[in-house]
Amino acid sequence: MGALPDVMQAVQLDAPGARVSVREVPVPKPGPGEVLVRMAASPINPSDLAFLMGAGPQKPFPAIPGIEGSGTVVAAGRGLLPRFLVGKRVACAAAPTSGGTWAEYMATPARRCVPLKRGVSLEQGAMLLVNPLTALAFFDIAKRGKHAAIVSTAAASALGRMIVRLGARHGVPIINIVRRQSHVELLHSMGAKYVLNTGDADFSAQLRTLAYQLNATLLLDALAGRQTAQLLRVAPAGSTVVVYGYLAREPSVIEATTFLYEEKELTGFYLPNWLAKKGLPQVLRDTSRVQQLAGTDLQTTVQRRVPLSAVQEALDLYQDNMTAGKVLLVANQSDVSNG
Ligand SMILES: NC(=O)c1ccc[n+]([C@@H]2O[C@H](COP(=O)([O-])OP(=O)(O)OC[C@H]3O[C@@H](n4cnc5c(N)ncnc54)[C@H](OP(=O)(O)O)[C@@H]3O)[C@@H](O)[C@H]2O)c1
Repeated sequence: MGALPDVMQAVQLDAPGARVSVREVPVPKPGPGEVLVRMAASPINPSDLAFLMGAGPQKPFPAIPGIEGSGTVVAAGRGLLPRFLVGKRVACAAAPTSGGTWAEYMATPARRCVPLKRGVSLEQGAMLLVNPLTALAFFDIAKRGKHAAIVSTAAASALGRMIVRLGARHGVPIINIVRRQSHVELLHSMGAKYVLNTGDADFSAQLRTLAYQLNATLLLDALAGRQTAQLLRVAPAGSTVVVYGYLAREPSVIEATTFLYEEKELTGFYLPNWLAKKGLPQVLRDTSRVQQLAGTDLQTTVQRRVPLSAVQEALDLYQDNMTAGKVLLVANQSDVSNG
C-alpha cells in the first residue's frame, strides 16, 4: 500500500454558517473496527448544504463535511472486517461525529463501507449510498403499506429521477411534482407519465384529482413547509405523507381538519434510522441491489468534477442548478480516472 502521509488536504467548517476553507490537517488514524479510506470522490448533497448552514445533525467543530463518497481502503484498525477491506475500492459513509468525506483521507467504521463490484466505477460508487438506498427504502415502504401509487415532490432531483425509473420497473404509478416547465419536460423525456407543475393555477385541483384516480396514498415530500400542508389537504383518505427533506426551508402550518377526519398520517424518514432498524441481511441485499442498478435505474448524473481545493466554486455551481446533476469533489483524480 505504500507509506501513508502524516498530513492531508481537507475541507473544514469552523462553525455553522461559516465559509468553508481547505486546510492541511493530520491524516486520521483508524481506531478499532475502523478503516482509513483514501478518498477518490464525494458528491455535494442537500444534507451537506443543511449541515454547512447548521441545520440537521451536527458534529464537533472545526468539522470536515461530507456524508458519502468512494475511495480505496489503505489501512485498518483492529478487527476482521477492517482487515478484510484493506486494498478494496469502497463506497463509504462518514460516522456521525467524526471527519467527513470531503478530504484526502477519512477514518470511518468498516461497517459504513461497501466493497464495490467490478463494473461499478469509483465515480458512481461515490453516490451509491444516500439516494439509491433511500429510493429502495421508499419502494419497500410502498410495498409493505400496499400503496397503489406514489406522489413525489422535487421530482427532478437525483432521487426523484430514481423514483421515476423504479416506479416504471415495479409498475407503480408516480405522480411527479416539480416547480419548472423545463423539469416537466425533463421527466416526460424520461418516460414519466404524470408530471405536475406547482406553478399551474389549478395545480392543487390537478393533484387531488390524479391522487384520487390513482389511489396515490403514499406521498413523499422532499420540501416540507407549505408543500406538506398541501399534500395533506389533497391526499386521499388514509394516506401517509412522508417528509424526508426540507428543501423549502420554511415551517409547515397544518390545519387539523386536513388530516383528522380522514385519518391521514404524517411521518418522517431518515435513512440512517431506517438502516439501523433493518437487519444485516436486508442491508446487504439492498447494498448489492444498488450496485446492480447503479448503471441504470439508480444512476446519478454528474454535472461537474471539481478538485477538493475548489470547494467553494463547487458549492456555488451546485446551488445555482441542483437539477443539472451532482457536483463531485475529487480528492484523487488518478484513482477516479482509473476506475
Ligand atoms: N431523509 C433522508 O434520509 C434522505 C436521504 C436522501 C435524500 N434526501 C433528500 O432528498 C431530497 C433530494 O435529494 P437529491 O440529492 O436527489 O437532490 P438534488 O439532486 O440536488 O436535487 C434537488 C432538487 O430539488 C429542487 N428544489 C430545491 N429547492 C426547492 C424548493 N424550494 N422548491 C421546489 N424544488 C426545490 C431542485 O430544483 P430547482 O432546480 O428548481 O432548484 C432540484 O431538482 C433532498 O431534500 C435530500 O435532503 C433525504
